[in-house]
Amino acid sequence: YYLGIDLGTSAVKCILVDNHGAVKAGRSVEYPLFQPQPGWAEQEPEDWWNGTAVCIRALLNESGVNGNQIAGIGLSGQMHGSVFLDRRLRPIRPALLWCDQRTEAECRWIEQTIGRDELSRLTGNRALTGFTAPKAVWLRNHEPEHYKRTAHLMLPKDYVRLKLTGAFGMDLADASGTLLLNVAERRWSSELLQRLDLPEEWLPPLYESNEVAGYVQPDAAEATGLVPGIPVVAGGGDQACGAVGVGAVQSGIASVALGTSGVVFVHDDTYQADSECRLHTFCHGVPGKWHRMGVMLSAGGSFQWWKNHFACEELEQAKAEGRDVYEYLTALAETAPPGSEGLLFMPYLTGERTPYADAKARGGFIGLNLRHSKAHLTRTILEGITFGLRDSMELIKASGIEIRQLRVNGGGARSRFWRQMIADIFGLPVVTVNSTDGPAYGAALMAASGVLGRDIPSLCGEWIDIEDLIEPDASSSQRYDAYYKIYRSLYGTLKQTMH
Ligand code: XUL
Repeated sequence: YYLGIDLGTSAVKCILVDNHGAVKAGRSVEYPLFQPQPGWAEQEPEDWWNGTAVCIRALLNESGVNGNQIAGIGLSGQMHGSVFLDRRLRPIRPALLWCDQRTEAECRWIEQTIGRDELSRLTGNRALTGFTAPKAVWLRNHEPEHYKRTAHLMLPKDYVRLKLTGAFGMDLADASGTLLLNVAERRWSSELLQRLDLPEEWLPPLYESNEVAGYVQPDAAEATGLVPGIPVVAGGGDQACGAVGVGAVQSGIASVALGTSGVVFVHDDTYQADSECRLHTFCHGVPGKWHRMGVMLSAGGSFQWWKNHFACEELEQAKAEGRDVYEYLTALAETAPPGSEGLLFMPYLTGERTPYADAKARGGFIGLNLRHSKAHLTRTILEGITFGLRDSMELIKASGIEIRQLRVNGGGARSRFWRQMIADIFGLPVVTVNSTDGPAYGAALMAASGVLGRDIPSLCGEWIDIEDLIEPDASSSQRYDAYYKIYRSLYGTLKQTMH
């Protein structure tokens, strides 16, 4: 078996995949997220490791699989987070996560100091609040004592790697989101590190996603129920792993991830810088390849917010009927017509990355009238999220990339209603594949690729099958197009009210 570990924002998920790509068993364990100030988001690296150890142990116990039956392990995880360790490898403070928005001033400073064009030449990207480099600069500015004690900087899943294997390492796909990588040349940007005065020795060695980057150590084996010596491949950030997990490893196929964040991800055979850097240009989990993506910060996150605060009745009702509350809410949404009778939703609850790069962007319902019910409000949230994703797709199309199929993954992909909405709003066929475990599955596949010496695309071809295909409905597409035009004008019109 191959063990895929996905260190998410709300939970770690571990799955076991057999030699033919079938998922044998899965398990997840949650951990807390702390928001000590508005716009801040932190987690304790120790919670990640403890959660992972408990999760692996439970998975092995429940599935009856022995540690010595695991041929390889792959790691996936939330991207961009900053784990600061001291010389003795102890976390200095909680990690700042991908959705943390405290570094606006640092991003401005980086772009002014380096220059936008030069930054794009060195890294392929812009300085965005979630990225890792601005967080390191924030630590220097705001917690100089912590900064002085720092000896290592790594991403969330690479802390789990360190605990599991005792080795430092990071894959190129996840490293792309640090803003410290020369994405075109697949190496750390010594030049940028020097100009930002950040020590290169803080950073781990780099690997392609399917390269073995360490082996399970005896103490980790004891904590998890694994056995010492199992190879652990570098793995990837959750977006690259999710794309591999649905087979988005060739041109023309985009992955759409509907998690807390929402992502439209396209494969590139060659490095294609985006001149204005409105999309992220990163290394892919497929060795020697790249990808571009647009990232919404609150996709599933907006729907979860709605469920948490405004759907108490539905929650009760769903519980009483033994149904999933999201399924219950999407069924309610379905009772309102496409376009929600003119009601629009702006899903910028935690600021927005693509296409606005604006930490201060805020959400809203626009166009309410007396006819609107909870069904309309629920539906328009899903429509607003999907319009937001279409913004990324429009940028992708404008850069000359042709997409013929969308492969959706993440929690939101479970809803057929939402998948049809995506097909209609994007005007493209929407596919789900046999594995619904996206990033964890991609990580397991990377492990198999590394251990067996097989290339990732051919293994994807063998393991991944299309399970469901939804064609867009032309008349709904037309209706949505009209609403999308209005949606697109909202941010520009209302921006002043948010700042
Ligand atoms: C991608 C991003 C998010 C996190 C979520 O750039 O920030 O998708 O990886 O886990």
